Amino acid sequence: MRRPFLSLVLAAGLAAAGCSAGSPDGPSGRQQDAKNTEKPKPKPTGTPGAAGTDDSVFPQAGNGGYDALHYALDLTVRPKTATVLTGTATVRAKATQDLSRFNLDLSGLKVGAVTVDGEKAAYSHQGTELTITPAQPLADDAEFTVEVRYSGNPKALGRGGHKDGWLPTDDGAFVMGEPLGAMTWYPVNNTTHDPATYDTRITVPAALTGVSNGRYEGVEPATDKGMRTFSWRNTTPTVPYLTTLAVGKFTLAHEGERVPVTTAVDPRQAADARQILGRIPEFVQWGEKHFGPYPVDFAGAIVDHDPGNGVALETMGRPVYGTAPEDTVMAHEYAHQWFGNSVRLADWSQIWLNEGFATYAMWMWDEEHGLGTAQEWFDTVYRAPAGDDVWKVIPGKPAGPDDLFSPAVYYRGAMVLHKVRLAVGDGKFRQILKTWAAEYGGKAATIEDFTALAQREAGADKPLKKIFDVWLYGKGKPRTP
Ligand code: TRP
Ligand code: ZN
Repeated sequence: MRRPFLSLVLAAGLAAAGCSAGSPDGPSGRQQDAKNTEKPKPKPTGTPGAAGTDDSVFPQAGNGGYDALHYALDLTVRPKTATVLTGTATVRAKATQDLSRFNLDLSGLKVGAVTVDGEKAAYSHQGTELTITPAQPLADDAEFTVEVRYSGNPKALGRGGHKDGWLPTDDGAFVMGEPLGAMTWYPVNNTTHDPATYDTRITVPAALTGVSNGRYEGVEPATDKGMRTFSWRNTTPTVPYLTTLAVGKFTLAHEGERVPVTTAVDPRQAADARQILGRIPEFVQWGEKHFGPYPVDFAGAIVDHDPGNGVALETMGRPVYGTAPEDTVMAHEYAHQWFGNSVRLADWSQIWLNEGFATYAMWMWDEEHGLGTAQEWFDTVYRAPAGDDVWKVIPGKPAGPDDLFSPAVYYRGAMVLHKVRLAVGDGKFRQILKTWAAEYGGKAATIEDFTALAQREAGADKPLKKIFDVWLYGKGKPRTP
């Protein structure tokens, strides 16, 4: 095996990724009700939208009462100044009940003004909940537009080395927002239930570049002298944790393939990254061969220069890497475009559907490129002693936020799929993966959806229940490999 056990940057140090929806790092906002003196208050109708979405791991993440449809983010980023980020977020949404008020999630930034459909709205910002009371209640099914002006110095969530959200670099910042870090840079319905499209404009000092998800729309001089504005348009519905932004010295490169590929590379990583970035179309095609049509309408990568942070995140169409990635890591992040980005999480406890699958895809990549077989990977992981972290968390049932990105979810999680492959044979196994991506692409899915689909495809003569009981849901190291 080319790589030592669990030395992969993906697994290293993610075990304790502790994030909590209820306790932001930033100062909690104080009550700031805007005065609205122009109109007499209408008789209130409607009820408040919920402040959470009952996710079993992050009950306060996201909000009820509306669906976000589109975010237009107009951001100015001035690294190393008193106010690093100044933004206007314009959120188009649709009410799903008669709404007297509703929430967005925003961590640690200061809100300056809010309007709903162009009218000044009252708001309060406490902890990570921005509660907005429109001048008139909103009717069920009505579309509305919220504009939030805000500013401050974004701060990542989490503790120690396991941060998610806005991560400063020596020349700017990049965002790795899984699971909750999107709310560190814009007000958002911060849930896996609410995908939306995005237009992101990033104004930065002229020596720097601003990058996001989506197709590159160009750069123009900004009204502020010495600044310029980069525009990105993401029309693939995307959930908040998969949105990103990077500011710094970057070289942008575009390739006119069927899927437009745009890469952004910190010049200090250019030599190390050149070869792998040239292979992006190959990763897209490799994924299509195994998992079906590429589900995003753009591709690429952001390779920053953050030597202490060799991790990666599968941000929509354009994964973010702290340093130039190896092919195995890129295969993992590309596999997520199908598993996680297209087939979406219904709940954070279902994270195996993302990480177990992307890790197994990585084993498949290695197997096909002479880097060690999936069986070798399986055997290597199985050799870990019973007390190892890889057996501490149940991949199908992580106990809480600190367990979501544990090696057990990744590696033992991939072992589940290997056992299925051994039981049904290579042909059937490939059919299961493709059918999964096809049937649940663009939808939220649960582990039960997968086990049912796998059993259906495998046929009644190949019962899989025992594999799932032992490998996916069993406690501790399974007695036999
Ligand atoms: N999903 C990432 C991966 O593919 C791991 C990850 C989770 C992460 N949360 C993160 C990386 C926060 C960086 C920051 O392996
Ligand atoms: Zn992953």
